[in-house]
Amino acid sequence: MAKRTIVALPGDGIGKAVLDEAIRVLDAAGFEADYVEGDIGWEFWKKEGNPLPDRTIKLLEKHKIALFGAITSKPKDAAFEELSPELKKKNLVYASPIVGLRQHFNLDICMRPCRTYTGNPLNFIRRGVGDAIEEPIVDVVIFRQNTEGLYGGVEWSNPPVQVYDALMTHPKFVKNFGKTPKEEISISTRIFTKKATERILRAAFEHAKNYGYESVTVCEKPNVIRETSGMMYKMAQQMQKADYPNIALHNTNIDAQMMWLTKNPEDYGVLVAGNMFGDIASDGFAGLIGGLGFACSAQFNDNGIGVFEPTHGSAPKYADYPVSIVNPIAMIESACMMLDYIDEKPMATKIRKAVAEVIAEGKVRTYDMMKMRGKADVVEHGAASTTQMADAIIAKL
Ligand code: NAI
Ligand code: MG
Repeated sequence: MAKRTIVALPGDGIGKAVLDEAIRVLDAAGFEADYVEGDIGWEFWKKEGNPLPDRTIKLLEKHKIALFGAITSKPKDAAFEELSPELKKKNLVYASPIVGLRQHFNLDICMRPCRTYTGNPLNFIRRGVGDAIEEPIVDVVIFRQNTEGLYGGVEWSNPPVQVYDALMTHPKFVKNFGKTPKEEISISTRIFTKKATERILRAAFEHAKNYGYESVTVCEKPNVIRETSGMMYKMAQQMQKADYPNIALHNTNIDAQMMWLTKNPEDYGVLVAGNMFGDIASDGFAGLIGGLGFACSAQFNDNGIGVFEPTHGSAPKYADYPVSIVNPIAMIESACMMLDYIDEKPMATKIRKAVAEVIAEGKVRTYDMMKMRGKADVVEHGAASTTQMADAIIAKL
């Protein structure tokens, strides 16, 4: 088979450490690829005034598939301070390169699986009947609409007159906000389009069908947010009836979902939501399976472009330790999602099996799995380093 080219985007902080280990694991599993490194992140903001240089966008346009570590983002003022002196005059404003990638390529589908590994000491446990301690098996895949909704960026403080006037045509706006001066109003919109809603729902149902999940749960709030959540749920009902009669459709409210999360997480399969509620639900479920060291994700569009990345950030305080201590499993799992996406499923399965064996054995554990504080000396106290964890996984391959 022709060798693939994968764009490697290490980014900042621990991004590079976890990405290097994931690539080592891919190599060991027999995945043949050339990796071309793309520039992204804080370093390029400081040097070039752009954390997502055009050459990186071009690389992804050409090769379509990227493995991404993590980036550092800082607030506006700090971003300006750290710009190189000659760039400070240029009126540049920092924008997250992750959001930039998402918008440029319309990566509208975000997928975040949360699965229990047997033997992971970070697994959620709960009290059952009497004194029983139960460890429910979580196997949930969250589909989050990634480009619209509350994170769509359409917002104002002291909105323009046209916006204000348009809002004043709504009786509820007049009643609840009509007496507040325009200057004292901030507005963030929550826009859902039929096209994007259809795509995220379709992706969720297709995944349920292809991977044998019994149900799809729409996790929104249609009883209160009637237009947007309401539209999503209604479209889900129509889609289920027309195309997926064998998959059960459930409807939960995001607030109640966060409560049920710890009560009966084993009852959920595929979950689908808009941008913000999908973000919340996926962090919630990730907490049940070990948190940031285990939370992986994929983002893709309708044109074959996919970016695969752990949910965690660049963890700057750990970045300069002489030996990297962070857990590479979230990145390795993200690489497995890439393999699934490019039809290398057997290889993904092989790697996941190796990860499962290492976790079940319990001999090699990173500091988070040993419930230690993330200090530079954890390896001396028995925790595995990032590299040692990858070595253990490779040994199982
Ligand atoms: P973070 O995810 O970088 O780290 C939070 C804490 O989680 C760490 O201090 C560490 O204790 C733990 N942690 C993270 N990854 C881990 C791993 N692989 N293994 C074990 N423990 C791990 O989030 P934080 O500290 O809020 O943000 C740091 C920087 O990362 C910020 O500049 C932020 O903007 C950026 N960020 C980037 C993201 C991305 O690139 N996708 C996502 C979240 C934050
Ligand atoms: Mg989040």
